[in-house]
Amino acid sequence: MKKTKKNITIDGPAASGKTSIGQKVASLMGYKFLDTGLMYRAIALKSLISSLEVYEEDKIVELCHRTDIAFNTNTKEILVDGENITDQLRERHVDQRVSLIAKLPNIRKVLVSQQRVIADRNDIVMVGRDIGTVVLPGAKYKFYLTASLEIRAERRYKEFTGSKTKILYDEILFEMEERDRVDKSRKDSPLKPAKDAVTVDTTEMVFETAVGTILNVIKGTIT
Ligand code: DC
Repeated sequence: MKKTKKNITIDGPAASGKTSIGQKVASLMGYKFLDTGLMYRAIALKSLISSLEVYEEDKIVELCHRTDIAFNTNTKEILVDGENITDQLRERHVDQRVSLIAKLPNIRKVLVSQQRVIADRNDIVMVGRDIGTVVLPGAKYKFYLTASLEIRAERRYKEFTGSKTKILYDEILFEMEERDRVDKSRKDSPLKPAKDAVTVDTTEMVFETAVGTILNVIKGTIT
């Protein structure tokens, strides 16, 4: 008989700590990890490379079907058409386009079904915006990570410091606010906590405390 896989969902806005905290929780529990934002980013980047406009949904859907997205769940990297482009996917021009791509219902349909197949085959921590609400509504453990806009912008600013991109904190803050607005207000699968999710506000939490809070919920010491 097929054994049901265990799934943990973590949703939340940009730079709320989903990826770093989710990866740590996954490694401590011996689970796989998948950052679904990278899938939307892969399609956003490919649409830019192919000079497609966001209103050309049918062509982007075709592109989506033609794109092979594979994960190395050990290194947490993503292979797009066999190439490791994880770093490119976090670049600013991708940031600026991705929420517009993620709004398109037919793109979501394709990616959500791929995410469900992955979750069906693995004990996994899956992070994104709609994992607890839409992708895996039956998951046993659901978390919603959040933090103030200012602290999230500061975290993203620090990631850019030292990289080739010269970018001001104010610009990051403005763009992040806009991305949150698009993600929360879209019709299809908007960003919101699942009714049964535990919300963890990481504004004033150090990394270890956030990881510990999630593990405590899973171990049943907090409900
Ligand atoms: O988590 P991130 O910043 O890498 O996400 C990139 C974009 O993709 C963001 O605008 C929201 C969108 N996204 C989504 O709509 N659904 C998901 N499950 C994951 C990400």
